Amino acid sequence: MSVIGTNITVSIGRKPILHGVNFAAEPGEVHAIVGPNGSGKTTLLRALTGDISANGRITLSDRSFDRKRPWEMASIRGVLPQVTVLSFPFTVIEVVRMGLEAGPHGASPEIAHQALRDVGLEGYEGRFFQELSGGEQQRAQLARVLSQVWEPVQDGAPCWLFLDEPVASLDIGHQLGVMELARRYADRGGGVIAVMHDLNLTAMFADQVTLLSKGEVAATGEVANVLTDDLLSAAYACTLRVNMAPSAGKTFLLPQTAARS
Ligand SMILES: Nc1ncnc2c1ncn2[C@@H]1O[C@H](COP(=O)(O)OP(=O)(O)OP(=O)(O)O)[C@@H](O)[C@H]1O
Ligand SMILES: [Mg+2]
Repeated sequence: MSVIGTNITVSIGRKPILHGVNFAAEPGEVHAIVGPNGSGKTTLLRALTGDISANGRITLSDRSFDRKRPWEMASIRGVLPQVTVLSFPFTVIEVVRMGLEAGPHGASPEIAHQALRDVGLEGYEGRFFQELSGGEQQRAQLARVLSQVWEPVQDGAPCWLFLDEPVASLDIGHQLGVMELARRYADRGGGVIAVMHDLNLTAMFADQVTLLSKGEVAATGEVANVLTDDLLSAAYACTLRVNMAPSAGKTFLLPQTAARS
């Protein structure tokens, strides 16, 4: 019931982007994909969701894409893209309904309203999406995705949230709120695969981490094995120190210098 990508290779035009990437995520876990700009995180996520074609083998809950119809895919996985542009003046509730109606829950107004409450947008239903702030737009899109795969386990099978930089334009309070939502989704049996730039939030909330560098997997595994001084400093080409806060027993990262020493 996992998401598994084996030997994923993607080229766009004649440009090779991913080179034989192996990836595996389990339900019940938050799996973070980290790595520098241009390392292939969005491309990997889009290959895993079937939004771009890739060589290699990708299975979602034991079935390969070519054996799933689009509506079947929509009922088991929701995708939050890195950037969303809406060309028409949709209201917030209409945006959320787009997700809801793509999933298995029909037009449940309770789910739509609860999803908006969960992302802190209660009372925004009638506002125009284009007139929201950047962070509010991102949270409205997350409410859309959450409504689509509202139940973390549907008909005995896990559902999946694929989130590309879900906290990128959020303030620290909303960053924590969204990561806690992701954590709860996984704790209730769903799977979360999230592209992250914030390594401290990754250390706090992820069970597994895949570090990409130049279209390849530099490391994958538990947080403590991937978020290390050497692996991160090499991938990001800067000096980073991974520390443990003794009182809280939590990992935190401190940037040191822009150039590697
Ligand atoms: N449509 C495209 N055409 C050409 N090159 C592309 C296209 N999409 C992505 N790329 C290239 O593929 C590489 C990986 O891009 P990708 O968007 O996966 O990176 P990323 O790790 O998500 O980066 P970021 O952290 O900046 O979002 C980059 O070098 C990018 O320029
Ligand atoms: Mg990206």
